Order: sequence, then C-alpha cells, then structure tokens
Amino acid sequence: MENKIIAANWKMYKVKRDVDAFFEIWRKYERLKNEIVIIPQAPLLSYVKNFLSYEKLGAQNCSDKKEGAFTGEVSPYLLKDTGCDYVLIGHSERRHIFGEKNEIMGLKIKNAIEANIRPIYCVGEKLEEREKGKTIDVVFEQLSVLKGLPSGGYDIAYEPVWAIGTGKVAKKEDASFVQGKIKEYLSQNKIGEGARILYGGSVKPDNSSELLMAPNVDGLLVGGASLDPGSFFKIVSSG
Ligand code: 13P
Repeated sequence: MENKIIAANWKMYKVKRDVDAFFEIWRKYERLKNEIVIIPQAPLLSYVKNFLSYEKLGAQNCSDKKEGAFTGEVSPYLLKDTGCDYVLIGHSERRHIFGEKNEIMGLKIKNAIEANIRPIYCVGEKLEEREKGKTIDVVFEQLSVLKGLPSGGYDIAYEPVWAIGTGKVAKKEDASFVQGKIKEYLSQNKIGEGARILYGGSVKPDNSSELLMAPNVDGLLVGGASLDPGSFFKIVSSG
C-alpha cells in the first residue's frame, strides 16, 4: 500500500503540559512510514515543533492577507516561519460556527500556497443536505473556489459535517464514492494536480484500517481520537 497522510487536528484542546504528556508517550513509538501531521492551536505551534522529528507541523487556519492591520488574524507567512508545512482551510467548524464563507476560502488557499504552505482544504455536507441528496452538489460548490488558483500544491479533506465529533463515521463505500467524485471534479477541471484526498469524521482505531484501505482514501484527518497518543498511534499504524 502506498504511504498515506494522517493528520491530527487537535482543535482547541491541549495546553503545554498536555503536549509534554502526549510526546512523552508518542516518542517511544516506532517511526512510521505514513506521513504524519500534528495540527495544534496556533500559540502551541513553536512548542510542538520542538518535539517533532519526522512528523510535520500544521496550523488550523490562516488569513487571506499577507500582513497588515488585521487584529486577531494569523498570516501564513508567519506559520511558515514557525515551521508549518500544512494549514487547514475551510474546516466545517470555521464555516458553520464562525460563518466563514466559501468565497474567502480560495483567497486563503492562494495566500497559503504563495507562503509555501500546503493547504488541506476541507469540504463536506451537512446532514440535511445529505438527506436531500445534495452531497455532491454541496461538495462541488465548495470545490469551485479552486478554479483559477494554482493548479496544484494543496490536498483536500472530505469531512461530512454529520460525522464530525458525532461517532457516526461515513461508510467506507460512501467515503470512497464522494472522494472518487472529488477526484473526477479535479481532473475534469484540470486542477488539484497531486492532491491527496483525506477522509475525516469520527475516525477511530477500530475503523481507520478499513477507511485507509478504501479506494480514493489517501489519508485521514483525525479529531478527537488524535488527542491520545495511544489511539492516534493505533490509527497511523493501521494502514
Ligand atoms: P472527529 O474525529 O473528532 O470527528 O473530528 C474530525 C475533524 O473535524 C477533523 O478535522
């Protein structure tokens, strides 16, 4: 099996002593062939960076601007300077809790690529959209911001909103189907060169292996189960 990318989105969890405790255990585990990305809160990035050896560092969000009077925003240029290789853009919590609109996502992705950081662009439908059979329409609309951007240099995470933090994981067939459609969309529009498609939403040690083996699943974006080093290690070593 080719190497996968498995990213730990720590969301708004952990302070420094929790990071110490995580890595005290994590560093005893063997090095894995899969690409691993740790994505902590922004003020923890430098701290976490000190613990990393082969693992990569990622941020949870960035500004669509390079620099300026934008209080509270974080520039991808600073993220790069801090050692980030990746940044999440358009996570459903940004879209649905903080009201970030689709239009700004393209600007953020462009800004991150220009800062030499690889965006992981998150897309996915809400439960009511899924129940109305609109999953593919919603995902394609979210992907449309990629048109007109550099033709590559980013990855995509399919995270159905109804599966995030709910314990309801998408069936591997459903994840494969939607992720296959995402690949078709990218290739038809001649965009997304080299993009890997991750699945996210209630990934746990007991479902990660079958998800990682499913067609079109090139990696995983893990929330809750990445907070504990033991469960995250089981996930990253399961495929
Ligand atoms: P959970 O794994 O906790 O469902 O979160 C998924 C997610 O939002 C990763 O970005």
